[in-house]
Amino acid sequence: MPSPNSPLIEVKDLTIRFGGLVAVDKVNFKIEKGELVGLIGPNGAGKTTCFNMLTGVYTPTSGQILLEGEAIQGLAPHVVAAKGLARTFQNIRLFKEMTVLENVLISMHHDRGYGFLSSIFSLPTKRRGEAKLRAKGMEILSTLDLADRADSLAKNLPYGEQRKAEIARALACDPRLLLLDEPAAGMNPVETARLCQLITDVRKKFGVTVLLIEHDMSLVMKICERIYVLDYGQLIAQGLPAEIRSNPKVIEAYLGGGLDQAHVTAPETRS
Ligand SMILES: Nc1ncnc2c1ncn2[C@@H]1O[C@H](COP(=O)(O)OP(=O)(O)OP(=O)(O)O)[C@@H](O)[C@H]1O
Ligand SMILES: [Mg+2]
Repeated sequence: MPSPNSPLIEVKDLTIRFGGLVAVDKVNFKIEKGELVGLIGPNGAGKTTCFNMLTGVYTPTSGQILLEGEAIQGLAPHVVAAKGLARTFQNIRLFKEMTVLENVLISMHHDRGYGFLSSIFSLPTKRRGEAKLRAKGMEILSTLDLADRADSLAKNLPYGEQRKAEIARALACDPRLLLLDEPAAGMNPVETARLCQLITDVRKKFGVTVLLIEHDMSLVMKICERIYVLDYGQLIAQGLPAEIRSNPKVIEAYLGGGLDQAHVTAPETRS
């Protein structure tokens, strides 16, 4: 049974193997309600794989994922989503031929608030329900500076705006924990600076807890309250941004280039 006094998420000895590769190796971390926590590490460290386990895409080989104390590892993705975990994808997964607002609305269908019969006969209840959903969708889009893009096809949005539309789509599920996988990837410095503010606004306005994977250290160091660092599947450091920045193990993991170099490699250009 969930216990409200437990951390929102706690992972214990989380491990997954792919053949001979241990992609995530006995990782432990906790996220308290309301926190904004960073998950960083070099390419291939196991960050996205952690998201895949947290959201039910992969079943861990061993270990536990506790949501308010309730074990959720191995549950199907739609079950995990219904429990309040929503994510964005490193490789954008919008419906490209749908509008931005439609992408948001499609994620909301589970709480549409009207029944099967009214939806068949297009009764007033349905129309009211739809108007309410559209209003909620537009509120989400406004928060992400995307209101004027509501009717654009997702495929026609510039890359940075598609990333924000991904966040809007995830928020439409009404999550408690929002998992962002490299939201600043491909953004220019001005867009990234604005994204910092947007993530902060989203968190306040929608009351979500945030776990953020990001290579752009300007963003991570600015907005994360705590940071976990993975390298070769293992947790090598955890702490406050200032502690992480000067941690020798972390600097070493980033190939001696220092954390400030990390942002120069966008995922599309990394091997
Ligand atoms: N389904 C899979 N089958 C086999 N290996 C996998 C699978 N998924 C991930 N891996 C491997 O697990 C390791 C961790 O990958 P992951 O995508 O989690 O890294 P990451 O930290 O997100 O890296 P990046 O910063 O490049 O996105 C990599 O070596 C990757 O090739
Ligand atoms: Mg990744």
